[in-house]
Amino acid sequence: MTRLTTCPDAEAVASRAAALIGRQLERARAERGVAHLALSGGTTPGHTYELLGAEHDVLERVELWFADERCVRPDDPESNYRLAYEAMLAPAAIDPARVHRMEGELGPHTGAERYGRELAARLADEGKLPVLDVVVLGIGPDAHIASLFPGAATLSAPEDAICLGIEDSPKPPPERITLSLGMLHAARSCLLLATGAGKADAISAMLGEPSRHAPASLLRRGRLSVIVDDAAAPPPRLR
Ligand code: 6PG
Repeated sequence: MTRLTTCPDAEAVASRAAALIGRQLERARAERGVAHLALSGGTTPGHTYELLGAEHDVLERVELWFADERCVRPDDPESNYRLAYEAMLAPAAIDPARVHRMEGELGPHTGAERYGRELAARLADEGKLPVLDVVVLGIGPDAHIASLFPGAATLSAPEDAICLGIEDSPKPPPERITLSLGMLHAARSCLLLATGAGKADAISAMLGEPSRHAPASLLRRGRLSVIVDDAAAPPPRLR
């Protein structure tokens, strides 16, 4: 069952999200000595990253990964890496050796192939998908997650697909790298954040019948936590 938390505003969403992520990372460290956290981009998670970056110990023994990336240079204002670097990685002085950047500058297919190999080498048991501990997701108004868009062929990628290259993202820029839906399913937990009335329909679609037209609805609901503000919250019947 999806755990849905509704907060008064975006500040409260960020605070709840940072606290939940901290608990999940602590559990992973306790169980396996290290935690693997994957980050999304966009405007929603930035303040959560700032709160995590301000609590230095919360990121100890954490390996940072990405759920998706635009095919731009890492210093490009559009880069999800740059968002995470400025909000969290630099303020927390995270050792670069613990940060696994998607190399968007190499282009969608080379970048996806290299990242898939890195994830497999670091996190996969023989013949299985790599398992991340926590994946932070935003959601688009069309209920896309990471760079998995409604009706896209990426939603039907082979079961062993780890990372996918995209050339025709409806959300600019068009070229991106994204974790596969299988990777999101394999993750121990996904945390989806949404604020603003513009996300209310997407959140309702996510909680409805699973559909390729609403990629967020395809997430594993038993491993999904959703934190929204009142404006993005679904009607009471869906809660
Ligand atoms: C990206 C993100 C994407 C984002 C949603 C929501 O690279 O664009 O990873 O999946 O999370 O589009 O974006 P906002 O938070 O800006 O609404």
